[in-house]
Amino acid sequence: MKVTFFSHSTCMLEIHDKCLLIDPFFSGNPIFKNRNFVKLIQKIDYILLTHAHYDHVCDVEFFTHKFINAVVISNYEISNYFDKKGIKTYGINYGSFISFPFGKLKYVWAAHSSVFNDGTYGGNPGGFLLHTDEGNLYISGDTSVMYEMNLIPHFGKLKLSILPIGGRYTMDVEEAILAANFLKSEKILGVHYNTFEDIQIDKEQAKKRFFEKGKELILLDKGKTIYV
Ligand code: NI
Ligand code: MN
Repeated sequence: MKVTFFSHSTCMLEIHDKCLLIDPFFSGNPIFKNRNFVKLIQKIDYILLTHAHYDHVCDVEFFTHKFINAVVISNYEISNYFDKKGIKTYGINYGSFISFPFGKLKYVWAAHSSVFNDGTYGGNPGGFLLHTDEGNLYISGDTSVMYEMNLIPHFGKLKLSILPIGGRYTMDVEEAILAANFLKSEKILGVHYNTFEDIQIDKEQAKKRFFEKGKELILLDKGKTIYV
């Protein structure tokens, strides 16, 4: 599995020949000064949206316009919102695993909120649990640490967890370490930090804290890729 981090919570997963873009946030992101990032993205099969906040759905219309076969996978309310705009969607809710060409996917609980910028209700916020033949991955979305995370490893051992670490609106570094323990996850890709003034972290200190607890925190520069 190939994982590319862009900025904030935006990542691209490549599983076999399928490209899954998660929570696209480029044009409104202060980290990106222009649309040069677009050149980096050649193909999108699916767009996974954890919740309706602007810093997670900002470029959905841009990308679905460019890649017309891309399917938005999200909760029922977010799917409906984009369906009304003529975008291909696949609405789900907390429940069972669903089979897709890239593997099985499950929408899981997140302790956060979810509303569009225009005030439209964005359903319940969530995360995604992906079981693929290239390994299992958990994307928590914006969330605080929560006891429900203990359920995740019961479905299968995780190869990687993508967790927010910037604090204030989500978990901070110490809470993400606690989450990693709940998840029985050794390898964490940290997201949702250093994008805005109020979610700044010390990257080296964060990595050190995870290391001291027997965990590996991976922090990627924008556009960088890891293979897991
Ligand atoms: Ni949010
Ligand atoms: Mn957010």
